Amino acid sequence: MIKVNDQFLKLPESYLFSEVARKIREYKEQNPEKEVIRMDIGDVTLPLPAATIEAMHKAVDDQGEGGDFHGYGPEQGYQFLRDAIAANDYAARGCGIQADEIFVSDGAKSDLGNLGDILSNDCRIAVADPGYPVYVDATVISGRGGELKNGRWTGIEYLKCDRSTDFKPQLPEHEADVIILCSPSNPTGTAMNREELRQWVDYANRHGALIIYDSAYESYISSPDIPRSIYEIEGAEKCAIEVRSFSKTAGFTGIRCGYTVVPKTLKGVTSDGEEVELRKLWNRRQTTKFNGAGYISQRGAEAVYSEEGKRQVRANVEYYMENARLIRKTLEEMGFKVWGGENSPYVWASFGEKADSWELFDRLLREAQISCTPGSGFGANGAGFIRLTGFNTHEKTREAMRRLRQCL
Ligand code: MLT
Repeated sequence: MIKVNDQFLKLPESYLFSEVARKIREYKEQNPEKEVIRMDIGDVTLPLPAATIEAMHKAVDDQGEGGDFHGYGPEQGYQFLRDAIAANDYAARGCGIQADEIFVSDGAKSDLGNLGDILSNDCRIAVADPGYPVYVDATVISGRGGELKNGRWTGIEYLKCDRSTDFKPQLPEHEADVIILCSPSNPTGTAMNREELRQWVDYANRHGALIIYDSAYESYISSPDIPRSIYEIEGAEKCAIEVRSFSKTAGFTGIRCGYTVVPKTLKGVTSDGEEVELRKLWNRRQTTKFNGAGYISQRGAEAVYSEEGKRQVRANVEYYMENARLIRKTLEEMGFKVWGGENSPYVWASFGEKADSWELFDRLLREAQISCTPGSGFGANGAGFIRLTGFNTHEKTREAMRRLRQCL
C-alpha cells in the first residue's frame, strides 16, 4: 500500500508563490496585450554583478578540456567559499564564526525547509505571523503543525507580531523549543535593532531554545543600530543557527547558492539527556541528503567578496532600495500606512481590517496590471495587507506607481 504523508493534505493545495504565479499566468493568457508589472515574488531583475559573471565563466572553463575539473565537491561547500564567508561576513564584523561552522547550500529556502530533520519531532516551533510561508508549511509537513483552526495551526506557537507591535515579533506567551526569526522581515520589511535582538538571544539562552535566524535580506540594512548577523549579539553562538542567501544580495535567484551557520558551541539534548552538537547532526544530514552546491555557483559566490564584487553588489542593492523608497513614499502620499522600504526591499501596506488581500491582488492585477503578494498568504495577521517589492527596474517601478495612483 502506498501510504502518503497526510500532512501534505492539510496544507493549502498550492504554495503561496505558485498560486500567485498561476493567477498571473492565467491573466496574461486571457489578456495577452496587457503588460503586467511584477511586484510579487522577491525575484531580482538586474544583470548579475560583472565580477560573478567573470568568475563563473572561468569556472565553466575549469570544467572543460584541459581545465581544473571538479566533480562531486565537499557537501559542506568548497573551502575557498567557506573561508571567504568567514572572513567577510563574520570576522570583519567581529563575529568569531569559523569556516567549518559554515555549510554552503543551494539557497536559504531549502535549508529553512530541511533544518527540521535534525530536531526532535516533539519540538514546538514558534513563528511570527505574518512570516515567510516556508516556516509554517515545512513545520506542518514534518508533522509538528497539529491542526488548522481559524487560520492558525494548533501545534505552532505564534509570536505576537502586528501593527500594535509595529510588526516586530514579541517573546512567546508559551514555551517554545525553536523560534524562527527573520530580520529584515519577509514580508513586513521591519528589522530588529541590537537591543531587540539581544532580548531574543537572552531569552533563548535562558529557556534553552534554538533560534533559527533567517537573514536573507541583511545586505539591505543600512542603519548602524541594526545587526546584520545574529552573531553580533553576545551569546548567540550558543543558541542560534543563521541562514543566509546570495539570492537577494547578489541576484543569485537563478544561480542558487546560500549558506547556513551552525556554531560548534550550539548544543541540543537527546531523548536520554545527552548533549550533542547540532553542527554534527547538520553535517550528517547534509552529507546524506545533499551533494553540495554547484562548483560554478560557488565560484560566482566567492567573487561577491572581491573588491569589485562588493562594489557591484552594493550598487545593485542601492538600486533596489531606491525603488523600495519610491514605493513607500508613493503609498504614504496616497494615505496608506506602510512598513518596510527602509533596510528592506519589501514594502508592506495596510488596506484596512475589512479588506481581503486576495481581492486586492485581483483588483490590482485586473485594473492596474500590477502583481503584488497578498498579505494573508503570510499568515492570518496579513489579512488586509499587500506586499510590494523593490526588485523591478526603475522604469517599471515608476510606471507601477503611476498606475497605482490612478487605480486606487
Ligand atoms: C519572496 O518573495 O518572499 C521570496 O522571494 C521567496 C523566496 O525567496 O523563496
